[in-house]
Amino acid sequence: MLLESKITVITGGGRGIGRAIALKFAAEGAAVVVAARTKTEIESVAKEVSDVGGRGLAVAADVADENHCENLIRAATSEFGRVDILVNNAGHYGPVKPVEEISPAEWDRVIAVHLRGAYLLTRLVLPAMYTRGTGAILNISSLSAKSAFAWGSPYASAKAGMLGLTRVVAAEAARKGVRVNALCPGPVTETRMSKDLGHVLAERLGVSEEDQLKGFLNTILQGRGQTADEIAAAALFLCSEHASAITGQSLNVDGGAAFY
Ligand SMILES: NC(=O)c1ccc[n+]([C@@H]2O[C@H](COP(=O)([O-])OP(=O)(O)OC[C@H]3O[C@@H](n4cnc5c(N)ncnc54)[C@H](OP(=O)(O)O)[C@@H]3O)[C@@H](O)[C@H]2O)c1
Repeated sequence: MLLESKITVITGGGRGIGRAIALKFAAEGAAVVVAARTKTEIESVAKEVSDVGGRGLAVAADVADENHCENLIRAATSEFGRVDILVNNAGHYGPVKPVEEISPAEWDRVIAVHLRGAYLLTRLVLPAMYTRGTGAILNISSLSAKSAFAWGSPYASAKAGMLGLTRVVAAEAARKGVRVNALCPGPVTETRMSKDLGHVLAERLGVSEEDQLKGFLNTILQGRGQTADEIAAAALFLCSEHASAITGQSLNVDGGAAFY
């Protein structure tokens, strides 16, 4: 098993991509701590893990809140003794509007959840990882960090910021045994975030949701979206010893949409 006895914290682990990562990591022997705001969802994922003989823990947290982040890492450490792998996955798309219509509060909230949340949790897990001389951090960024889609400037900025954070922390951590990478998924059409976004975009464009999605998927080499399980497979690779020489990278899992 690729993550035998690893202790992992996965934010946004209650549904979608985070849930898929939690289940895949657990199937590879990891203990998984899933965090998000909706208690019922994280508890259900923790139960899915324990139902198949794994170790799961649900911790309610808003990753934009410093105290919640501290509580999350404290809970993970007190239950399992340490954190070996952190996956910063929690997030929402935020306002689907041109930049001039986005309020400062809307802007700040998106940055706080994706970028500040990743920073807060990174700074909390790194000292103990350095002491042990081992660890992995994975930031779930997006194709949006590398493309130019209208009506999501805070989201794209936060996701691009996560790539900067990934590189700088990788530079600081590389010789202390800790690897830091990012994933840039394309459209994972099965998730709530993706469906909600498709709905709003279709409305704004005055087309059907089906046509909006079809038009977008047609711009991708493979002509289809990605599954949460495909993103989880890439996450497993980057967090496992198979990726022992990979750090500071962003891996596109987008069916052929971004090429850098
Ligand atoms: N779906 C896509 O096409 C796509 C593409 C590229 C990147 N991504 C990224 O992948 C990640 C997961 O998205 P998804 O598509 O799986 O969406 P999703 O199904 O809506 O899941 C989002 C998860 O994040 C949690 N979350 C949201 N805000 C949070 C907060 N402030 N604090 C803690 N948890 C929070 C949600 O739970 P609560 O609401 O209960 O807190 C939920 O568990 C996001 O970072 C997203 O930007 C998605």
